Amino acid sequence: MTMTSISITISLLLLLLSTTNATTLSSDITALKAIKSAINPTTIPSYSCLASWNFTSDPCSNPHVTHFLCGLSCSNNRVTQLTFDRAGYAGTLSPLVSQLTQLITIDLSDNKLSGPIPTSLFSLPNLQTLNLRSNSFSGTIPPTISTLKSIQTLDISHNSLSGSLPNSLSSLTLTRLDLSFNKLTGPIPKLPLNLLELALRSNSLSGFLSNPSFNELTQLEVVELSDNSLTGTIPSWVFLLPSLQQLNLANNSFTGIEISKPLNSNLIAVDAGYNKIVGDLSVNFSEYPMLSSLSLRYNKLHGPIPSEYSRKMKLRRLFLDGNYLNGMPPKEFFSGKSSVSGSLGDNCLKSCPASSELCLKSQKPLSICRQAYGGKLKQK
Ligand SMILES: *[C@@H]1O[C@H](CO)[C@@H](O)[C@H](O)[C@H]1NC(C)=O
Ligand SMILES: *[C@@H]1O[C@H](CO)[C@@H](O)[C@H](O)[C@H]1NC(C)=O
Ligand SMILES: *[C@@H]1O[C@H](CO)[C@@H](O)[C@H](O)[C@H]1NC(C)=O
Repeated sequence: MTMTSISITISLLLLLLSTTNATTLSSDITALKAIKSAINPTTIPSYSCLASWNFTSDPCSNPHVTHFLCGLSCSNNRVTQLTFDRAGYAGTLSPLVSQLTQLITIDLSDNKLSGPIPTSLFSLPNLQTLNLRSNSFSGTIPPTISTLKSIQTLDISHNSLSGSLPNSLSSLTLTRLDLSFNKLTGPIPKLPLNLLELALRSNSLSGFLSNPSFNELTQLEVVELSDNSLTGTIPSWVFLLPSLQQLNLANNSFTGIEISKPLNSNLIAVDAGYNKIVGDLSVNFSEYPMLSSLSLRYNKLHGPIPSEYSRKMKLRRLFLDGNYLNGMPPKEFFSGKSSVSGSLGDNCLKSCPASSELCLKSQKPLSICRQAYGGKLKQK
């Protein structure tokens, strides 16, 4: 034999060895079989990952030529990732998924899976990412979710989860939690301390923003709580969360807002529009050096727009329409140099120049403004 043919023989032998060697742990194979059979076969298109799950060959063996082309990844003959394609799979998630104890990632997003999320899944010790976004999972989030020891990203948004958020959430090591667009009710419990992003938009959460829930969340950058039923006053400590950049509290039932001067702040965007906030527009917003987008539209705010909003702030978006603001709007907003967009319409402002985009929407009728100010408004 020549050197070349020897090396070819050796590499063929190695290839053969490496493929035949790879035998997935049998409990992992059982789990994969159960996971596939829990999917309605009529929803498994021939081109999909699950269609290539043919158990006449070994799931973790490489290379994959015809079978197990996608939908999972392995390491050391254990399944470490379960990542369905967006094929429109319907059915349930088999509880046997918990036998895949080396799983690091589960991503079944954008399918039509329904039924409860199997609680056995919460025992997975290495799971870091659980993405079930845009399915039809229902039922409640059980307290045992706190046993997900390694979890960092939890996205179960756009499903039909109901019930309240468990208090045990706080013991998770989560950095990103998205449960938006479900049917969750009740108050916001104490939150995980490592959170960077919290998204609970479009649920039916109620109650106050309570300090113990957010206390010590020093890394929290994004808070998205719009479209819920939260009540009470938006407390000043929310704006002072040390890493906060974006705060969306729009479309709730808040009735007041307190805002104090920060020592230092990274806050960029605040949306508290579509609430029931009464009172004056606080000058203290102008003390937030990075704040460039502010919406308090469709509330019940009275009084003038502080001139600091144009003199001191670098606003790019300002929506204050749909209130009872009066007086003259700061004229710097209408100078050629101003780059602020938004709306000041539907208020009780004097001389809002219709040539400005900010004033396109007209002001409220005088009669309504007189009523709002107890007949004391001089509108001339
Ligand atoms: C699995 O693959 C074998 C060939 O390797 C084929 O004969 C069999 O029909 C396949 N089974 C399914 C369910 O696709
Ligand atoms: C709030 O509700 C209004 C009216 O229903 C809607 O147009 C707007 O997109 C909502 N905003 C947010 C941030 O949810
Ligand atoms: C502004 O903040 C200070 C504390 O930093 C507070 O005492 C004051 O009441 C606030 N003013 C307004 C108008 O919100």
